[in-house]
Amino acid sequence: MNPNAHTRRRISVVLTCAAIAILPGACSGPQPLSVAILPQHEQAYLKVIAERSDTQKDAFFAMKARAAGSNAATEAQADSRLSTTRNPFDAYKDFDAVSRGAVLYKVYCMSCHGPDARGQGPAMPARLPKMDFHAFGKRFAATLHRGAPRAWFRKIHDGHTSKVINEDGSKNTMPAFGDILAREQIWQTISYLQSLDRYSDPARSQ
Ligand code: HEC
Repeated sequence: MNPNAHTRRRISVVLTCAAIAILPGACSGPQPLSVAILPQHEQAYLKVIAERSDTQKDAFFAMKARAAGSNAATEAQADSRLSTTRNPFDAYKDFDAVSRGAVLYKVYCMSCHGPDARGQGPAMPARLPKMDFHAFGKRFAATLHRGAPRAWFRKIHDGHTSKVINEDGSKNTMPAFGDILAREQIWQTISYLQSLDRYSDPARSQ
């Protein structure tokens, strides 16, 4: 199956939940994402996403162009010059980037990686080793802000197939998001994932 078609079908399902999640208590279950989202941000951003749910990148560039008084082509060009190896955002300080990344996560990533980003979404087979994004600091202490985010960008942009083999011999694949998300948006989701270990440890979130 075309991986993009697959993702898009799932997106509309998740989006419904994301759209009603802005109403207090609407989506039950753990809501740790809300610690990173400013409600006013989420509403504005979901509105943009709803405008063009199949071509998110274009909607993002159009939104940036409206805000900057430029045009979408200029914004797309600027985006194509963004680094693919270095996160332009500070995941521990840039709450705007983290909030936007959290919204993107809800729409595109939560179905597989879980509502709490601990690697157990409904579409992620239990067979996969847990991918707990809250333990970022522990997992990547040696490469913090270097190796891991760079590899993450590549996997999210190009797609990635797990090394784990399922019982039926198949492998689980993450679709490529390079055609759907702008580079800036990919870095926002990475910033959100990087920020999680800080939010999950109250002592460090001061
Ligand atoms: C269709 C399911 C699916 C969706 C949707 C999905 N992923 Fe994944 N993701 C996977 C699988 C499968 C792996 C590989 C796991 C492994 O290597 O064992 C993975 C791996 C990753 C990794 C690499 C983790 C590491 O430590 O190497 C990152 C980062 C990641 N995903 C982020 C995202 C982000 C951000 C999104 C949303 C933009 C997303 N994923 C959407 C299934 C998905």
